[in-house]
Amino acid sequence: MTDHGSWWRHAVIYQIYPWSFQDSNGDGIGDLPGIISRLDYLNDGTPHSLGVDAIWLSPIYPSPMKDFGYDVADYCAIDPRFGTLADFDRLVNEAHRRGIRVLMDLVLNHTSDQHPWFQASRSSRSSPKRDWYLWADPGARGGRPSNWTAVFGGSAWEWDRTTRQYYLHSFLKEQPDLNWNHPDAQEAMHEVVRFWLDRGVDGFRLDAINWIGKDSNWPDNPTRFFALRSYLRQIHHYDRDQPFTHTVLQLLRTWTNDYPGAVMVGEASSDTPGGPAAFYGKGTDELHMVFDFRMLKSSWDPQRFRRLIQQWDRAVPPGGWPTQVLSNHDNSRHYSRYSRGVDAETAARRARAAALLLLTLRGTPYLYYGEEVGMRDVRLRYRELRDPYTRRYWPFLRGRDPARTPMQWDRSPHAGFTAGTPWLPVSPDFERVNVAHEAEDRASILSLYRKLIWLRKTMPALALGSYREVPGGPPDCLIYLRETGGEVSERLLIVINFRPNPRRFSLPSIDAVGVILLSTDPHAAGESFDSAHVDLGPDEGILVRLHA
Ligand code: NOJ
Repeated sequence: MTDHGSWWRHAVIYQIYPWSFQDSNGDGIGDLPGIISRLDYLNDGTPHSLGVDAIWLSPIYPSPMKDFGYDVADYCAIDPRFGTLADFDRLVNEAHRRGIRVLMDLVLNHTSDQHPWFQASRSSRSSPKRDWYLWADPGARGGRPSNWTAVFGGSAWEWDRTTRQYYLHSFLKEQPDLNWNHPDAQEAMHEVVRFWLDRGVDGFRLDAINWIGKDSNWPDNPTRFFALRSYLRQIHHYDRDQPFTHTVLQLLRTWTNDYPGAVMVGEASSDTPGGPAAFYGKGTDELHMVFDFRMLKSSWDPQRFRRLIQQWDRAVPPGGWPTQVLSNHDNSRHYSRYSRGVDAETAARRARAAALLLLTLRGTPYLYYGEEVGMRDVRLRYRELRDPYTRRYWPFLRGRDPARTPMQWDRSPHAGFTAGTPWLPVSPDFERVNVAHEAEDRASILSLYRKLIWLRKTMPALALGSYREVPGGPPDCLIYLRETGGEVSERLLIVINFRPNPRRFSLPSIDAVGVILLSTDPHAAGESFDSAHVDLGPDEGILVRLHA
């Protein structure tokens, strides 16, 4: 493959939740052969396919699946539910043959309690692996070492009866936190990184990075107002976000620098001090990309989006590169989020406008499987839920299972996902919302995603151009320019109407004419654009090439 350098700057990356993408053996769970069989859909080199440049696989390592793979029991193997290492090698080859790169999910903060490292660590206080994890004696009053709470509920400390100490787990009690201060634990993770990069993977998505640095004197966190989740009743001063995370990320950067083209994208909480951009370090010494989840957690609000986009664009230091993401496996799908309180037609138009936004902002877009066909959260009954976090807070919080249901391929039983019984129910809308149906329909949301992704490949300004907000438009429209200078100078204008009524206005600040390359309204007629007479339908977004 060519262009080793920073391929990820002009890439579109597609997140696959392996449990739900494609089952090949009828056990109701997605697997690697299933993913291979769908690679042509993702990119066959022609605009009939989606055209994504890379896939990020949520964890596929052997795991007791308490947290659906984010509890890793062996970092250098494949869970038999998903296939074998030979399947994995085939996936990497087949993906690369199509120009699709492959990113693994790397869970650094914790392992499964079934990982042999933890089994050894908990076996005795004198185990050489004891200090690979975070153990502490009871606190002064005889109880837990501190008031720290776990993200998924309850205390972050679990008592170990055999060795009579507590261990720390920031998530489930089956996910003990690793001690990144231990040189042998660090070296073991370095081997993991080499193992996958030597096998040909193109990089990693790093899980929960801002949990790595914590205060090992375990001071109590300050508490705050009441919230349903005990985790939110504390200010997480001491149990995460400590500067040591940067030391670890710098180390990881030196490890990946040995592999040209290898990339790291980190997941950090949006309320981490300094914001997620802090994990770019100086721009070239920590992560290549970091997720900013503020837009992913926001409602469909132009003022808020404007502010967040602006802040994010400015926060990323030179050398670093922004990401854009609206949905993932931990949150409600954006189609559902943006539809709250509006009718189905408005919701459908908003999902199309959101696609335009995601694929025209500055930064690498991350798509979550199924968003390109308009998949929504699925209403589930308690007995159908699988995720412990979703079960714990049901029915007060929607949780994560509704956004993890099987990919909708066609109208056959179980939407073509499995010949068996799917591990989570398929959405009841699958006969209408599916790949096969939409692939043939030029007005479908899938066709819109395809068009936008293929346009990005031919227009440097879309992928790499600068971002500049255009002032002077109505407050409920988002208006921005993407521009490249020099020999291939290109000026693109994006205008998105966030309201369900038509708009007419002029944009004196740009005073230009151009051609409308794409509208999110499949029936929009006009092709020419004049900034003196901007005309938008309800929730319509347009992409315009401005004449010089
Ligand atoms: C973030 C992951 O995205 C989520 O799915 C997981 O439960 C936690 N980190 C813990 O690994």
